[in-house]
Amino acid sequence: MSENDVIVETRDLVKIYGDGEEIRALDGVSLTVRRGEFVSIMGPSGSGKSTLLYVLGALARPTSGQVLVNDQDLAKVKNLDRFRNETMGFVFQLHNLIPTMTALENVEVPLHEQKMSGKERRGRARDVLELVGLGDRLPHLPNQLSGGQCQRVAVARSLVNQPSLVLADEPTGELDSENSKEIVDLMHDMNHRLGTTFLVVTHDPAVARRTDRILIMGDGRIVREDIIKDPYTEDLRILKESPLGQAVLEGREDLVLDGVALFHEGQPTEAARLLRELLQHV
Ligand SMILES: Nc1ncnc2c1ncn2[C@@H]1O[C@H](COP(=O)(O)OP(=O)(O)OP(=O)(O)O)[C@@H](O)[C@H]1O
Ligand SMILES: [Mg+2]
Repeated sequence: MSENDVIVETRDLVKIYGDGEEIRALDGVSLTVRRGEFVSIMGPSGSGKSTLLYVLGALARPTSGQVLVNDQDLAKVKNLDRFRNETMGFVFQLHNLIPTMTALENVEVPLHEQKMSGKERRGRARDVLELVGLGDRLPHLPNQLSGGQCQRVAVARSLVNQPSLVLADEPTGELDSENSKEIVDLMHDMNHRLGTTFLVVTHDPAVARRTDRILIMGDGRIVREDIIKDPYTEDLRILKESPLGQAVLEGREDLVLDGVALFHEGQPTEAARLLRELLQHV
């Protein structure tokens, strides 16, 4: 694995809370996350999942151990707020939207620290809200939106600064199964389309099953790791390597796939276009 493939690396992370009776919330966590990976973190209440996300997101300092994000040692970063703002996005269980701000204004918040005009800021925020399917809800306040829509706004806010890493703490915890699926679909879509790395804490096995890897925590440690092989993605990878997949990617003519024409009158058909898009993202 080359250096650049790794986005997060921790070495023997320990986090102790309290002065009197000490609580070892993290008790030696060493972890490597590859760029573009979609990782879930599970484990019982109190096992240290949120603490791990806080430490990775530089929202809490470890008692000992090291965190590298994009090859930068968080303990040595001069301007942590700026680094965080440029590199990471956060989504929490309770979406934490500002109640007096519209959907659009909430999504603009992470951009206030960046040098750009108000017009550009609004444009960027509008684009991501459209991406999450809320282009028609820009002027709505959080209390005029459903729980699922608020969480979509929160996901849009986490993505607006185009972070390479999104840390999400039970983003679907308050949602019913249908809304939960929509939020997870959305995150997968962003993962495929933008290559954003996701680390998602969840109690929901249905959410975890859809990720590349499940880390299971217990008493401040990673006690198990499950690699999920997504058969659909696996099939697409095989197709991509095949002569047919290569031909589609290279835009060669006269191809027919199971009776579906990929070219018609010298132009790629809609089927060819869709297939190429799918193959380009595996
Ligand atoms: N600010 C704090 N001060 C003292 N102890 C804390 C603090 N935050 C968390 N803890 C303790 O650290 C341990 C790990 O907590 P953490 O919130 O990381 O667990 P979790 O796995 O996210 O749990 P849950 O699934 O309930 O959200 C717990 O024992 C908790 O009580
Ligand atoms: Mg927690």
